[in-house]
Amino acid sequence: MNTMPLHPESSLLHEDDALHEGDSLTPAIPWSATFRAADAQSFSRMASQKRHPRYYTRYGNPLHERVARIVARLEGAQAGLVTASGMGAISTALLGLVRTGDRIVAQRNHYMGTTLLLSELLARFGVTAEFVEQTDTDAFARALRTPAAVVMLESPTNPDCSLTDLGAVCALAHQHQTRVIVDNTFATPLNQQPMQLGADLVVHSATKYLGGHHDLTAGVIVGDDALIDTLWSTQIVLGATLSPMDAWLLLRGMRTLGVRIERINASALAVARALQQHPAVASVSYPGLESHPQHALARTQMRGFGGVMGVRLKADYAGTARFVASLKLARQAVSLGGVDTLIVHAAAMWAGTLSDEALQATGIEPSLVRLSIGLEHPDDLIADLHRGLDAV
Ligand SMILES: Cc1ncc(COP(=O)(O)O)c(C=O)c1O
Repeated sequence: MNTMPLHPESSLLHEDDALHEGDSLTPAIPWSATFRAADAQSFSRMASQKRHPRYYTRYGNPLHERVARIVARLEGAQAGLVTASGMGAISTALLGLVRTGDRIVAQRNHYMGTTLLLSELLARFGVTAEFVEQTDTDAFARALRTPAAVVMLESPTNPDCSLTDLGAVCALAHQHQTRVIVDNTFATPLNQQPMQLGADLVVHSATKYLGGHHDLTAGVIVGDDALIDTLWSTQIVLGATLSPMDAWLLLRGMRTLGVRIERINASALAVARALQQHPAVASVSYPGLESHPQHALARTQMRGFGGVMGVRLKADYAGTARFVASLKLARQAVSLGGVDTLIVHAAAMWAGTLSDEALQATGIEPSLVRLSIGLEHPDDLIADLHRGLDAV
């Protein structure tokens, strides 16, 4: 077993060495919903232990344990849980921490599933949410004058890459004994570690960068042991259980996260710079660009700036749709964070869900596209995007 302090890239490969069995370099898939006990005593121990990895897969599984261990180590947390999707992680974390009558302070801009959970589902059970402008730390201070059980944060956000000052908001929340959850999906623990900035829990859609290949949906929650035990009790009744096969795929995807993020950080910056110079582009919102209004904050709380950017064209809705459809390498598909570059026309994605006013309020203009840079050579991506833009 390795006891050296490791860089994150090495932890991705070796953090779970202590869990290795046998001589195989890759773990066997514990392809079982349930596990046999050796005797009555151990059965009783398995049944009563929280997060037992070999009792019943909804309660835990050896591959969930490996994934949780690695992500917890990367985030600087004590423990973790694995769920069947990012929304599984977010709903487990929020439902595990609140009760009827509680109040949540959240951002005006979140991943849409989180917004719907806060504004519709939780509201049905008497939990209210106040949504504040994430770029305005004073707005959080004002909202926290009224007691809140949880502050929900996400930075950078979907689709426009706005940032929250994570350190400042965590400090404000803790003055009021309020717990903070941070969705760190866009950044990944390699680019940003919210626990080091004061977060109590970090959640991920592992469907994105952690898995990294667009072939699974999964989620992860990390935090301290006691909180993770509390959330485990919620998770086993909500039942968002990741299948052992998908946990295996996630683990395999995570082994290469280090090289993927290094490459994606560099390619995205090159693409963002090239797009910014094209005459058909009105603006590029990417935290790594000096022109991003929160670039200084990005430099203090992020080590790299990730692969997602919001691009506004000098075009109307139809022109933007034609541009997206004309691309040969960037594929028109939802999701982000994988090996393939993906593009979405934000207004087309949300038009069926949000009113025109709500689209405006969240900054989703008709000419906004979201790009998630993958592992293609950046020069090829730039050539494809420029060719599309030339025709707008
Ligand atoms: C920032 C963020 N959080 C959470 C989610 C939800 O993740 P999943 O689709 O794995 O449930 C998404 C999905 O796009 C996301 O972008």
